[in-house]
Amino acid sequence: MSSFNISVDANHQNGKAKNAADSSFTVEDIDDFDFSKLLEKPRPLNIDRLRSLDERSLTELAGSPQLRNADINAPRVHDHADYVISPSVGGRRSGFNTPRSLPGFESHPMVGEAWDALRRSMVYFRGQPVGTIAAVDNSEEKLNYDQVFVRDFVPSALAFLMNGEPDIVKNFILKTLRLQSWEKKIDRFQLGEGVMPASFKVFHDPVRNHETLIADFGESAIGRVAPVDSGFWWIILLRAYTKSTGDSSLADMPECQKGIRLILSLCLSEGFDTFPTLLCADGCSMIDRRMGVYGYPIEIQALFFMALRCALLLLKHDGEGKEMVEQIVKRLHALSYHMRSYFWLDSKQLNDIYRYKTEEYSHTAVNKFNVIPDSLPEWVFDFMPPHGGFFIGNVSPARMDFRWFALGNCIAILSSLATPEQSTAIMDLIESRWEELVGEMPLKVCYPAIESHEWRIVTGCDPKNTRWSYHNGGSWPVLLWLLTAACIKTGRPQIARRAIEVAEARLHKDHWPEYYDGKVGRYVGKQSRKNQTWSIAGYLVAKMMLEDPSHVGMVSLEEDKQMKPVMRRCNSWTC
Ligand code: GLC
Repeated sequence: MSSFNISVDANHQNGKAKNAADSSFTVEDIDDFDFSKLLEKPRPLNIDRLRSLDERSLTELAGSPQLRNADINAPRVHDHADYVISPSVGGRRSGFNTPRSLPGFESHPMVGEAWDALRRSMVYFRGQPVGTIAAVDNSEEKLNYDQVFVRDFVPSALAFLMNGEPDIVKNFILKTLRLQSWEKKIDRFQLGEGVMPASFKVFHDPVRNHETLIADFGESAIGRVAPVDSGFWWIILLRAYTKSTGDSSLADMPECQKGIRLILSLCLSEGFDTFPTLLCADGCSMIDRRMGVYGYPIEIQALFFMALRCALLLLKHDGEGKEMVEQIVKRLHALSYHMRSYFWLDSKQLNDIYRYKTEEYSHTAVNKFNVIPDSLPEWVFDFMPPHGGFFIGNVSPARMDFRWFALGNCIAILSSLATPEQSTAIMDLIESRWEELVGEMPLKVCYPAIESHEWRIVTGCDPKNTRWSYHNGGSWPVLLWLLTAACIKTGRPQIARRAIEVAEARLHKDHWPEYYDGKVGRYVGKQSRKNQTWSIAGYLVAKMMLEDPSHVGMVSLEEDKQMKPVMRRCNSWTC
């Protein structure tokens, strides 16, 4: 019998008491282990490796029929084996602890290089690490890539958490919380109290030898749009931090509780809405330029859903907290129903829409949003595989945006917005449309590109978003971590392994580009930054999750059985 030798790093005393109970797995325990518990519990940090796994390679594990056909709710023994190994802290690089790969899990030489690059991107404020710069690329005009972006920091934060370095994440959470309390104005208009910044930078005043933070809430961004995703990522990250360290004292701070409430108050306030989805302007998330993602884009809806579920776990059920919890529960029910019913597309649903009647008034309408079948694009009939499906880009009156968006679909899987069946169908689609979505560099931010007249109308002739470039069908390596997490959650790590291999062939050689262009992602993007931090961190997170799938628990939520799956559309107003 080999037993796990678990050591809690001295830096992580906070989580020690909670983790102590988990700290003695044995190989024998694995067979009867409840997988879902591992996803939900704070995981012990810096677990020394399980020597008995030396004999069995991960490729072999992934190739096993058990893992390939794993039921997402009942992963097999091998999943458990995957779950209980964690990177040991090995040789020191650049003066920091950088994980060496486990014997049996041969590390790619790129891993060390990536850690070095990630360390170089760290930003310090008054001596403390507070984030990572978007790109360390001096060859191009900086634009705003010299800032710490909230969304870009997420994969960096996960990499640090997975490596047992939570301090930078805690500092980031607290600093951005302070920024939230700033008075935010664009011209003479004041933004909502809860808005989180898109990015910030450290300004050094050489005269006073003093450092201050400068934040951008959208007032300096192209198009002057506030980042709706930042607040959601902030809540998701706070939950990841709490889960990873077992330290709930940060989330329990009255300031953090208030921060969560302020973010969600912006989204839960009553108005003219007839849908539970969140109405927003174009360019308010990762795709931060005009790309026809206004209205109810899937990325925002999936992040909203995930943030609401994370907030439920983080909010104290006292006074103000309790009131908000009640609002959240109601919204989650309505939102999951709406998304699962109206955003979901598979071949049956596609056929139903194709045969829709229009101009239906009253509660008995089948075509509730009055979508005109003629607006169905040609490509979607070829793209849709017989087994598979996905959440489409947008649903609003008389408008369905059928484009595939990677981030929203992966977050839908991780947050369990997608039912287990829908999650499986999304993975089936990725496998069937590998050439289109992964091709020569994972992963297409959206598919397909818009071109010609449509490009003129939808993007306003944006020269950065020409067809198959940047946000318009470009391939973004950062998305690898989301794909990997979704693959592991659905019990299909072999898909992630294939995608990582594709990325490894080029990423480092090409100096970690921000994005790739072309139908299959063959070319380094037209205006792509090099040494783009989230490309680097995304790769590291993907690698670490494959080596120790228990890391996925930081960004994954199990299905809430109370949110009844809706697979068929309901035609009557009574249901
Ligand atoms: C680009 C991307 C945006 C990212 C920023 C910094 O503007 O569109 O998603 O946050 O660069 O990397």
